Amino acid sequence: MKKILTLAFAAAFAVSAFAQDQTIKLPAPSVKGGLSIMETLRNRQSIREYSSKKLKLQDLSNLCWAAIGINRPESSKLTAPTAMNKQEVTLYYIDHKGAYIYNAKSNALELVSKGNHYDLVVAKQDFVKDAPAVLVIVSNTSVFDQTSSLYAYTDAGMVSQNISLFCAGHKMATVPRGMMDRDGLSRVLHLRSGEVPVLNHPVGYLK
Ligand SMILES: Cc1cc2nc3c(=O)[nH]c(=O)nc-3n(C[C@H](O)[C@H](O)[C@H](O)COP(=O)(O)O)c2cc1C
Repeated sequence: MKKILTLAFAAAFAVSAFAQDQTIKLPAPSVKGGLSIMETLRNRQSIREYSSKKLKLQDLSNLCWAAIGINRPESSKLTAPTAMNKQEVTLYYIDHKGAYIYNAKSNALELVSKGNHYDLVVAKQDFVKDAPAVLVIVSNTSVFDQTSSLYAYTDAGMVSQNISLFCAGHKMATVPRGMMDRDGLSRVLHLRSGEVPVLNHPVGYLK
């Protein structure tokens, strides 16, 4: 009975945390489940149709962690490599209520801008509107000198592929996209000089 009550409380907390605007506290990422790496690679493809079903918090946590979470806490290193371990890539989560920054250390999504900012990521591709969420990968080009600045974009690509592979292995759909309103997003996400929205990923369950 106590266990059932605890589970019911945890579920209610998860729903209310999701509904609440300031911070979405994510459950600890789980490394269990999903297809093998070879089956995942077999499935990897760009998918532009999404179920409108909201993402479960556990799936969202796993997805963010797979994209750019901390997989070696002793060194704070990440699931995605970055040139010279600069860790200059930031992941943003956008749903119909707001835009959030993924804080890998606290395993939470922190609100950066309230409101529906989908128009900035849709950019003439209406299928994006059906996705319950869009992940935006931002890289800070200013951490590299000019000869190495390509690394900032390369590092964003590493995160993008992690997202694609996670989705392919977990019955989810996504497509890496370069299309978006970069200036509009830079304003809404309060990006600083040198920070560039490189790619975005609509994400959702398979339709
Ligand atoms: C850097 C990059 C940018 C892309 N931009 C878009 C985009 O803006 N819109 C889109 O629908 N697909 C975009 N794609 C997806 C490609 O069209 C897709 O990967 C390609 O057609 C091959 O299909 P596949 O991913 O299923 O193998 C992009 C892919 C990459 C790697």
